Amino acid sequence: MENTLGAGTIGEVYCLGRCYENRAFHHDGKNYSGTDADQVADVCRNGATTNAAPYTHQGLGQGLLSFQAMSADECLQLLPAWLQRAPEQLLQELQTSGLRGRGGAGFPMAIKLNTVRNEPADARYIVCNADEGDPGAFSDRYLLEEQPHLVLIGMILAGYMSNASDGVVYIRAEYPESIALTTRLADQLNTLFPITTFGGATFTFRLKVVKAQGAYICGEETALLNSLEGNRAEVRTRPPFPAQSGLYGKPTAVNNVETLASIPFIVQEGGARFKK
Ligand SMILES: Cc1cc2nc3c(=O)[nH]c(=O)nc-3n(C[C@H](O)[C@H](O)[C@H](O)COP(=O)(O)O)c2cc1C
Repeated sequence: MENTLGAGTIGEVYCLGRCYENRAFHHDGKNYSGTDADQVADVCRNGATTNAAPYTHQGLGQGLLSFQAMSADECLQLLPAWLQRAPEQLLQELQTSGLRGRGGAGFPMAIKLNTVRNEPADARYIVCNADEGDPGAFSDRYLLEEQPHLVLIGMILAGYMSNASDGVVYIRAEYPESIALTTRLADQLNTLFPITTFGGATFTFRLKVVKAQGAYICGEETALLNSLEGNRAEVRTRPPFPAQSGLYGKPTAVNNVETLASIPFIVQEGGARFKK
């Protein structure tokens, strides 16, 4: 690269979530990998289309992560019917599923949402942690770019279950394609509301995508909340836990991308099937 571009034009970049390929680089707001690395000069001159290799997610059987649970169209068709069920009933499915957080700590999702729901407050939030800072990890990027509807509709369902009105997706800046795709879909989903729900009530949920500012610690949920509030990304002492007092002091469920992406399947197919 130095031979082609000159040493002075090359900077540093953090993990671009393409560790399943040998080489990756960032140029002018886009990430490149695969054979693009052999054509750096072309890419930089013409902004050539990316030749990234397909995601590597082979396994011994059907991969859980890459399992296409439902298409975006299917989810959108089913959403009004899902919201005709009582939030308590959906929470019960979540509890039956045994879904635990995929961000590392494995905390039961149903308990978190129940806590947010039961905490007295005038606002509640769902925050999707897409800071994915662990080197070698790319599961969140895969979901945000290939199955973003599962993540965002998972957030809407989590909001319905916990009586939250707003959802924020916090995506690491090194994933420009994830940010662009998720923002576009969030804008589309925002136009769906208000939706009449169980018992004739009205439900409104607003999604917002925030580009993170690049520090590994921002993936820790309370540092993430500080960052969202425009403060230094420092860890908060607990208690109170974010589910009690999170974003702007309001009850907040912070969940990993993969955790949230599991919810549409659980609501449609039932907690017992997910658990199995
Ligand atoms: C230093 C540090 C970095 C973390 N980075 C991430 C991250 O990038 N993504 C993530 O989902 N969780 C990360 N976590 C865990 C979060 O604090 C939190 O447990 C998680 O977002 C909760 O979501 P879950 O219940 O769906 O797993 C990190 C924790 C620590 C201590």
